[in-house]
Amino acid sequence: MDRIRIVGGQRLHGTIPISGAKNATLPLMIAGLLTDETLILENVPRLADVVQLQRILGNHGVDIMIAGKRAGENGDNGRTIHISAKTIVDTTAPYEMVSRMRASFWVIAPLVARMGEAKVSMPGGCAIGTRPVDLLIMALEKLGADIEIEGGYVIARAPKGLRGGEIAFPKVTVGGTHTALMAAALARGTTVIENAAREPEVVDVADCLNKMGANIAGAGTARIVVEGVSRLHGTRHAVLPDRIETGTYAMAVAMTGGDVLLQNARPELLQVALDVLAKAGTTVTPTNEGIRIARNGAGLEPVDVTTAPFPGFPTDLQAQLMALMTRAKGTSHITETIFENRFMHVQELARLGARIQLDGDTATIEGVARLKGAPVMATDLRASVSLVIAGLAAEGETTVNRVYHLDRGFERLEQKLAACGAAIERISE
Ligand code: UD1
Repeated sequence: MDRIRIVGGQRLHGTIPISGAKNATLPLMIAGLLTDETLILENVPRLADVVQLQRILGNHGVDIMIAGKRAGENGDNGRTIHISAKTIVDTTAPYEMVSRMRASFWVIAPLVARMGEAKVSMPGGCAIGTRPVDLLIMALEKLGADIEIEGGYVIARAPKGLRGGEIAFPKVTVGGTHTALMAAALARGTTVIENAAREPEVVDVADCLNKMGANIAGAGTARIVVEGVSRLHGTRHAVLPDRIETGTYAMAVAMTGGDVLLQNARPELLQVALDVLAKAGTTVTPTNEGIRIARNGAGLEPVDVTTAPFPGFPTDLQAQLMALMTRAKGTSHITETIFENRFMHVQELARLGARIQLDGDTATIEGVARLKGAPVMATDLRASVSLVIAGLAAEGETTVNRVYHLDRGFERLEQKLAACGAAIERISE
């Protein structure tokens, strides 16, 4: 199993290209199931989760073609993939596949909308809380699907097609909103989604669906209205930049000091996180090319942050911010409101010398003058990258084990950091 080895203490200088967003790519690929024509996605990141979803879609009969490297293309450009769900040969998504990635459960929506039935295993994914699918099921029921749960599978049936309905989510759910959008796009009549997720990835998916012929208004607000259409067609769509990758590298620069351009990053996708970084003592400068992040030798100020759905501080940057605050000049508080069990990084950060107290959903972080390198274990996607950030500032050597978690969501992480002067390498075994 691969490991990442870091020798801390180097400042970061240079340019880091930001990849296409994983959390938009996955639902966009799934949206390819809605049409028998070809959906072309550009700026697709090279990630293990994308490969896994390719396998899952392949199992339904979807042809996926990855365009070859063109002249002048290097590893920094995202890939272009052609998704063609001309014929769907199987409407079952088996346990062995879905259990490895939670988002793959979302195939249930296009399958039932287009084929009238779907049988999808209950999901797996990062071990960060119970992460149920009750709200996704509720959304499909509101659109007329009959749901049965049997042997760990959710079976959705709508032999005469879905019909529009009112879906009021009791809590904001990104997956629930994606599911509702995809199902409503092909339902008969009007669907109103209340308390919809406002995440930029939802807007990206809605934009792509509209290009495919859907009629969706209000994406990016809490009330989305969908006029169903009878069929969708192919289109070409470029995935938006990854705001979580952007925030992660911004925190790495804040941690080590230095000056880095995050190329292609868009500040409006993570304004709250950038404001937190500025408050902590980082200089954040939007430019034509992206966002420049700089910190000189001055110490980091502590901050108090609570995670929230967009536009609030993202839960997917919580672990990274905690790593950063381990070096602040004082005490910070971070409250996690989205996932109840998302603190697995705390004990690993402690191995590097961090002082963190947990009390329910709040972590109190007492900044320390120095961290010391140690072997640590990646537990989930975002937690593992927080250990990399801590390792970049720790004295001596840190090895992060189980990096397959990192490969699920960060494209060429060690190369991007090494190109800016970090002493980081992958050890393959
Ligand atoms: C997505 C993101 C993930 C991010 C999360 C929150 C992708 C591929 N993943 O995950 O990176 O951390 O949004 O921004 O885009 N819930 C229920 N019942 C449900 C569904 C959700 O109770 O049926 C709860 C969850 O347990 C959680 C909250 O709602 O407490 C938000 O979850 P949700 O927004 O659905 O997360 P995901 O879409 O799985």
